[in-house]
Amino acid sequence: MEVAREIPGVRNAVRIARSRGRRIGLVPTMGYLHAGHLSLIEAARRDATFVVVSIYVNPTQFGPQEDYARYPRDEAGDLQKCAAAGVDLVFLPSDEEMYAPDAATSVHVSGLTDTLCGPCRPGHFDGVATVVAKLFNIVQPDVAYFGRKDAQQLAVIQRMTRDLNLPVQIVGCPTVREPDGLAMSSRNAMLSADQRRRALVLYQALCQAQRSIQAGQRQVQAVLEEMYHIVSQAQPTRVDYISIVDPQTMQPVEHIDRPVLVALAVRIGNTRLIDNLLVDPMGSAPPSR
Ligand code: PAF
Repeated sequence: MEVAREIPGVRNAVRIARSRGRRIGLVPTMGYLHAGHLSLIEAARRDATFVVVSIYVNPTQFGPQEDYARYPRDEAGDLQKCAAAGVDLVFLPSDEEMYAPDAATSVHVSGLTDTLCGPCRPGHFDGVATVVAKLFNIVQPDVAYFGRKDAQQLAVIQRMTRDLNLPVQIVGCPTVREPDGLAMSSRNAMLSADQRRRALVLYQALCQAQRSIQAGQRQVQAVLEEMYHIVSQAQPTRVDYISIVDPQTMQPVEHIDRPVLVALAVRIGNTRLIDNLLVDPMGSAPPSR
């Protein structure tokens, strides 16, 4: 496995791989790799023949009051996991490598970013779209992999890729959960044992929403009230949102008459957690956890 900290090293490794007929797959991450990231790497290994993982805690997607400084980092552990997972190249840039001190350009995707995490985290999606566009330009992958846990991020990246005619296929991969249902996230490492137990309400609220909708509930407000009730039992520090939106536009729906994205962002202690479920009202067999 190669490790490149500078852009010319990445470009050179990718150029050689492509000259050998390899299909380049990129898994962009902020590190502290867990089973969710490893599932993206597995997906990349299935349909690409040269797998690149970028590990970069991107400062421009964190607000001034957010958890950039305490975001977990483990470079040595991440490199071991990448090597064991069969990654070909890891890109580990510094801030200086990624951003010129007088960088003045950013990518803004409008509309899709007006709801859910957009208003709660001003500038967040500009930071994500900009760094992902830069990673696409640096690595020039044929295909890139993102988790569906960050459903709004995935929609933003798909729209940006289409609008800017970036020649990259975007693949969304299923959310990976702990055995009790908590969505895998690097931020889970910031939870105390008690907070970790309370964090389960996110998944419990989503499952309740799914049960209600699939049992015939079509009123958005009724579903949201049940979810708030479940979430409030964990005494969250803050509920950023609990919403039911159209999975394509991310706009709130008025009536549940087609598949909807049920999504929430909740702070347990100082840790902000997000999760979502795509719920088809005509579906059956809701999870019983
Ligand atoms: O999902 C993440 O880990 C990040 O937002 C991403 C896509 C790597 C951009 O920094």
